[in-house]
Amino acid sequence: MKITYYGHSCFGVEVASIKIVFDPFIQPNKLASSINLTEIEADYMVVSHGHEDHTADLIELAKQTNATVISNYEIIEWVKSKGIKKVHAMNTGGSFTFDFGTIKSVFAAHSSSLPDGTYGGNPNGYIIKANKKTLYYAGDTALTTEMKLIGEFENVDLSILPIGDNFTMGINDAIIAANFIDCNEVIGMHFDTFPPIKIDHNKAIKAFKNKGVNLQLLSIGQTVAI
Ligand code: NI
Ligand code: MN
Repeated sequence: MKITYYGHSCFGVEVASIKIVFDPFIQPNKLASSINLTEIEADYMVVSHGHEDHTADLIELAKQTNATVISNYEIIEWVKSKGIKKVHAMNTGGSFTFDFGTIKSVFAAHSSSLPDGTYGGNPNGYIIKANKKTLYYAGDTALTTEMKLIGEFENVDLSILPIGDNFTMGINDAIIAANFIDCNEVIGMHFDTFPPIKIDHNKAIKAFKNKGVNLQLLSIGQTVAI
C-alpha cells in the first residue's frame, strides 16, 4: 500500500496498480498549490462526508478520471445528480469487497452537508483491507468510544487521524484514539489548512512519541509505503 498526501484530508492510496483518492480538496487549498489536479489519477474515490473541504474537487476529478465514487447513500445521490454515473453507495457498518480489497464504512462523530446545503447523511470513516494491510482513514471525527471496537476487532497497521482540533479531534484526543484503535502508527490530517487548525508540528510529534505513538506529518506530495 502506497500513501500519498495531497494536503488537508486528501490522500491517494495505491494498492497493486489500483489508485484510490480520499476526500479531494486540492484546488482551493493554498498549501497544496504544488499539486496539479489534472495529473491525479484515480480508479476509485472515497468520500468521508459532504463538507467542502472534503468534496471541493470531487465532481471535477470524478469526470477527469472516470473513477467510481464510494460514499454514503446521500452523498452518492448528490454525486449522481451532478452527472456522475460510476458510484457505489454504502452506509455505516457496511463492508464491500472491491477488486483492490475490502472497505468497511465506520462511525465518525461529526456532521455532513454538501456545499450547496444538500443533506449529506452521516459522516463516516473507512477501514481499508488490501494486500494483507489494514488502513483506517478516520475522516472528520471527534474521539469516540466506537474506536475501541476497531482496536478490539481489527488489526490496524496505520491510522490516518485528524489532529487539527477546533473542527475535529485535537492532538490529545487523537493520541487517545490511537490507543483505542490499538495502533502505534499514525499519519496526521486536517491540520494547518485554516488558521483555527494550525498546529506546532514538533510539539505534536513529541506528544505522540511520549505515549509510544509514531506520528508522521507528511509534506504535501510525499509518499510513504506500508
Ligand atoms: Ni467536516
Ligand atoms: Mn473538514
